[in-house]
Amino acid sequence: MRVVLRAVWWHCSGDRGGLGAAVMTCCVRAWWLVSALLAVSWWICGNGVATAAWSDDLLVADFEGETYGEWLATGGAFGTGPARGALPGQMSVEGFAGRGLVNSFCGGDDATGTLTSPAFRIERGYLSFLIGGGRSERLSLQLLVDGRVVRSATGSNDVPGGSEHLVAESFDLTEFKGRMAVLRVLDEAAGSWGHINVDQIVQTDIRPRGYLTDVERSLQARTRYLQIPVRNGAAKRLVTVLVDGEVVVRNEIELADGAADWWAPLDISGWRDRTVTLRVDRLHEDSAALQNVGESDELRDAAELYAEPLRGQFHFSPRRGWNNDPNGCVYYNGEYHLFFQHNPYGWSWGNMHWGHAVSRDLVHWEELGDVLQPDELGPMFSGSAVVDWKNTSGFGEGGRPPLVLIYTAAGSPTVQCLAWSTDGRKFKKYSGNPVLGQVTGGNRDPKVFWHAGTQQWVMVLYVEQQGRHTVHFFTSANLREWKLASVSEGDAGGGRYLFECPDFFELAVSGDVLRRKWVLLGASGEYGVGGFDGVGFQPEQQRLAGQGGRGFYAAQSFSDVPDGRRILIGWWQTETRGMPFNQSMTIPLELGLRETSEGARLTFAPVRELSSLRGGVRSLGMQELRPGQRNPLEGMEAELADVELEFEPVGARSVVLTVRDVVVEYDVLKQELVVAGHRAAAPLQSGRQRLRVLCDRTGVEVFGSGGLCYVPLPVNVNSQNRRLYLESRGGTAVVHSVEVYELRSAWQRGGER
Ligand code: FRU
Repeated sequence: MRVVLRAVWWHCSGDRGGLGAAVMTCCVRAWWLVSALLAVSWWICGNGVATAAWSDDLLVADFEGETYGEWLATGGAFGTGPARGALPGQMSVEGFAGRGLVNSFCGGDDATGTLTSPAFRIERGYLSFLIGGGRSERLSLQLLVDGRVVRSATGSNDVPGGSEHLVAESFDLTEFKGRMAVLRVLDEAAGSWGHINVDQIVQTDIRPRGYLTDVERSLQARTRYLQIPVRNGAAKRLVTVLVDGEVVVRNEIELADGAADWWAPLDISGWRDRTVTLRVDRLHEDSAALQNVGESDELRDAAELYAEPLRGQFHFSPRRGWNNDPNGCVYYNGEYHLFFQHNPYGWSWGNMHWGHAVSRDLVHWEELGDVLQPDELGPMFSGSAVVDWKNTSGFGEGGRPPLVLIYTAAGSPTVQCLAWSTDGRKFKKYSGNPVLGQVTGGNRDPKVFWHAGTQQWVMVLYVEQQGRHTVHFFTSANLREWKLASVSEGDAGGGRYLFECPDFFELAVSGDVLRRKWVLLGASGEYGVGGFDGVGFQPEQQRLAGQGGRGFYAAQSFSDVPDGRRILIGWWQTETRGMPFNQSMTIPLELGLRETSEGARLTFAPVRELSSLRGGVRSLGMQELRPGQRNPLEGMEAELADVELEFEPVGARSVVLTVRDVVVEYDVLKQELVVAGHRAAAPLQSGRQRLRVLCDRTGVEVFGSGGLCYVPLPVNVNSQNRRLYLESRGGTAVVHSVEVYELRSAWQRGGER
């Protein structure tokens, strides 16, 4: 009855008319409600239904008062009475009933304590309540019967980034009916999410709808894919895939209980006619997630594939899900193989698999399925690939040299493992994994290469050691057994320049093949230059700035490229909200090492194969560019633009090339490029500057100073603006040439080559 009266009061106070009108409205509404309730009770009794939920529920506590009343608080966490929502320093607390709730954040996450109810009789079949806060055994709402904890619940807190939203949960009390019980809210947790929220505790006979555990759906595998509904930001559920009852893989998925943002394909083609079961650890009874899982031979929304508004048109990105680092870059059997850190079932990082794509020209990529999925050794972190020409590993078959993947399994311990293939399509994990045990928990990202000088394999491995960032060098005769050869300090020169994903390779200096130097590269693009004797790196210079942009990370060079080019590709952090995929790769870059007055420096250039996408060209010859003059690029519009510009600044303070809405300014005084506000050193070369600007839907890559300056920059370019604009400011510049190419999309139908 209490609930009903509160509803009447709410209606009255919500009326914004005059007092008379309000009183009148209230009376009419109250009269109407009372008659309606009488009619309902009559109908219920007359029809033999035993009880009506609203009148029969027993309120245990709603925490609407100023104090906890007869409940007893100990410790500091619960304060002296219910909170009115969030406490100072807490995220916004939502989902509680009325104005007050139990919130053990009094004094912050570190405060602890208990809050215990007076004894009460269990008179109904269920106890329903709202609960939130941290997820831990040390944070719980407990039901005690005869002094023993017989039921316990904690916050679900399963949304990425954490949530202060209380959700409805319940205990089944049937077996304790008639017994006396006590409730205790316990906060024994300190640190992040060390608090609990509870509200609206009610005894009821109507079983509250709530969460179920280990919910399953099984089907016969008849199609290529199961389509899993994903809602970005929803609670992460642990989804186990079983085939004929055997566990195959587990992933954490933000399952859509209702409408999905996108559909993640789970490839089941390898299990045709077998029983595939999806088991979800925790699912609300009202969730439609499992019923909504679809079966199909094509990707859902396949018609849009590669034509999505934020799909880079000449940069690789995965069909679905998230990518980070490029992995296993290698040329094998006439194809470039690009593996990558892939979350096939999420828009953000997680569930690390190795995705796989192949290309014959570094421009047109075909994505194949994932080749490594998480196993009992952990998720599949970054690593590299080599062609084992001499079959030192013994994985070769029928005279075919194996393609060997070397990766980190990031479980506990975190170890290095092998997988191989002899056709570049099917991969097997080595049964003797791991091949290298844990050095420290922070060891990962093995990059392996064949060192011709000492006729052995060398692995460079990132190892975080007591807060120091190091690269460990290991050597091996057969890829299966490794021994430590040396350790390089990644903090040399100040800062952690060799942090994660090291790469190590030799380059000719200024094209002189007799003068070669080794480059040790860290994930952010900083590098050292020096010598290598098969044991350790002898740096001449360390911590040199590499790429000058933003959102470029964990680049890796291709192994076994037949013409000897050193080709690097980086993770390009292009954020594509609203798309069923996220992130991408940079253009493959040809690296060089140029002698400068300060020593040898890396140079970057887009691989020459990119030119195959060039359509028609519009160009300008030599001319003076005066401040305030008419835009010489008027009418030269392009969506996917590849622009080359060479100029001498002469008297100009700056020369500005605007490609669509991205401003690329050359600051003559500072000899710096300013790309969309981001600065990078770009020295003039013999008084001239030559720029190349590549503009895709998700960002620009700018090359200057003969490749010494490379500025990758993710930015979602305004799709409406295709204009190009060139101007000089503060004085006249001489433009030697401008060429504007429109590029074709690299994605042909369905991404097939
Ligand atoms: C770099 C990195 C690697 C790790 C991988 C996991 O981005 O942190 O060190 O192997 O990502 O996805």
